Amino acid sequence: MSMEKGQAQGRIEGLREQINYHNYRYYVLDAPVISDQEYDELFAELQRLEEQYPELLSPDSPTQRVGAPPREELGTVEHSLPMLSLHSINEEAELSNFHETVRRETGDQATYVGEPKYDGVAIELVYRDGVLEIASTRGDGVVGEDVTDNVRTIKAVPLRLIRAEGAPPLPSLLEVRGEVYLPIAAFSELNRRREEAGETLFANPRNAAAGSLRQLDANITAQRPLDIFCYGVGWVEGHTFASEWEILQSLPQWGLRVDQRCQICEDIEACIAYHRQMADARDELPYEIDGVVFKVNDLAMQAVLGERSRSPRWAVAYKFAARQAITRINEIFISVGRTGALTPVASLEPVQISGVTVSRASLHNRREIERKDIREGDTVVVQRAGDVIPQVVRVEIEKRDGTQKPFTMPGHCPVCGTEVLQQEGDPIVRCPNIDCPAQIQGRLEHFVSRNAMDIDGMGEKIVAQLLEEGLVRHLPDIYELEKEDLVALERMAEKSAQNLLDAIESSKQTTLARFIYSLGILQVGAHVAEVLATHFGRLQDLMAASEETLQSIHEIGPEIAHSVHTFFAAKSNRRIVEELLAHGISFEELQPTTGSLEGLSFVLTGAMERFPRQEATAEIQKRGGRVTSSVSKTTDYVVAGADPGSKLTRAQELGITVLSEDEFRKLLGYS
Ligand code: IVH
Repeated sequence: MSMEKGQAQGRIEGLREQINYHNYRYYVLDAPVISDQEYDELFAELQRLEEQYPELLSPDSPTQRVGAPPREELGTVEHSLPMLSLHSINEEAELSNFHETVRRETGDQATYVGEPKYDGVAIELVYRDGVLEIASTRGDGVVGEDVTDNVRTIKAVPLRLIRAEGAPPLPSLLEVRGEVYLPIAAFSELNRRREEAGETLFANPRNAAAGSLRQLDANITAQRPLDIFCYGVGWVEGHTFASEWEILQSLPQWGLRVDQRCQICEDIEACIAYHRQMADARDELPYEIDGVVFKVNDLAMQAVLGERSRSPRWAVAYKFAARQAITRINEIFISVGRTGALTPVASLEPVQISGVTVSRASLHNRREIERKDIREGDTVVVQRAGDVIPQVVRVEIEKRDGTQKPFTMPGHCPVCGTEVLQQEGDPIVRCPNIDCPAQIQGRLEHFVSRNAMDIDGMGEKIVAQLLEEGLVRHLPDIYELEKEDLVALERMAEKSAQNLLDAIESSKQTTLARFIYSLGILQVGAHVAEVLATHFGRLQDLMAASEETLQSIHEIGPEIAHSVHTFFAAKSNRRIVEELLAHGISFEELQPTTGSLEGLSFVLTGAMERFPRQEATAEIQKRGGRVTSSVSKTTDYVVAGADPGSKLTRAQELGITVLSEDEFRKLLGYS
């Protein structure tokens, strides 16, 4: 059966409209009016027609959620209005203080909107003329990551807004903010499958959502049933709202999903009741929440209250008490980390806390054990701090029956037997033997970990086997591994061995910050490594820096400065660095900051003749500038190559300076 093109176009448009409407009924209203089968038939018909008339395809068609090609990296997006965070409180008294401030400063009795505080990933969706243009993560609040391809796979996110009957007209520009989350059931199922496949498990639904959203391949995201709740707006053109409540009422009428559990709270008593009600409902909800949010309803009042540096003064997040459980300490054992620290760890009778099985909790050090009087065999209250890291809160002393055994820290390292040391005033006991297998294992694990050299597939077990077989001992040994070495390992097939070798090879292309972090210098976490890399730009300069120079850097205190200096002063460490570099590890040298484009924001559009986009981006970043993918009021320059498209139009509308390729080259200092 074939149709004439004009007829097909009409049918295609009709089908798209129907499908969008049924998506809205299903995902937003949770009230479908047709069966799944009827829906599938409409969808299949649309797909058929679009296949037949590819020229009629349009990116906002409901069939176009999947199929974007994998990316090399996620681009960046500058938010037109910063995405703020929320001030957290834990007590009713703090809520009263908040309410007092609001009353004092607005001279009025405020009404609030109460919303669940979703534990997912904050997101911004930009709809221009009703079509989804960009989706980005919050990032540092100013610049986020471009996750458009991934967000398009989320069924509850409309690719094109609808206008329900009686709804206000669609704004010409609508920036919507909300939280992307993975429902708890989907999280459990995902982890179950990962366990079966021998993959690492996600610690909680939030991490799973974040990991899914930041995939470079949207086809993987498409397999994770992410969902969304919208809770606010950013920049809006062509519509004005008077209150938060009006926003929450309008969004669903345009096809955007809002939680039915949001409520108006007329006064502080209603807020307290709402907090209690949601805390009670928490365990029954199909998604994770960790508190409730109260927002002053009236937007004019919000404007009077304004913002602190990073959070609005018109909103507050009232957290729930941490979830706790009671269990027994079966044993206390010592774990030796990469720095030689001996950490006592409680091995617990496995217990469920908010859907996660907890079987271990760090007891930190001897002082902590003594302070809480923790003994082997004790019945204890455990909780997940920030609902993630398990900790022992207290002992149920009345449950003691005389069989409990006090714990004493060993005088020798349980791994290598070396006598341990404890510095005056330091609560931590350390194994001083830098050749202790536990330290070596820890250093290697750290080196290959995700934020360090990111050698995929080289987990704890493989590292342990490599150590045992004597194949690696020092970091550079990793780069001398050969296929025969790997194939000889237990449970290592030819294919996995090759994958591992490939991962090792590709880890050589890295960044200076990652490399610094991977060395495992005491006190140097990922952030400090980033600070050092941006400051020095070149590894040699960092290695040669005096303690004084290091200390003069913003965010680098005396302890970090001392640790970094001591590390590079040691000949053995310098040799390791040299060997690693000799194995071909390389990173682009960055210009130290104080670049000529410091603080400026660029958008690149169209094709440049002599500048591949990646190179142009690198040149800007080297000089301290930023490259984002969407044009906003805060963009400083738009660089337009051939066929620039809508970004150029937008720049002109906003009066932003547009540079030609030649002008851009001049700005960079080329002749
Ligand atoms: S409003 C007012 N509403 O909490 C500006 N945020 O600490 C702040 N969040 O990054 C956003 N549920 O990821 C808002 N109902 C809710 C929220 C919510 C969860 C998250 C969001 C944000 C963080 C702020």
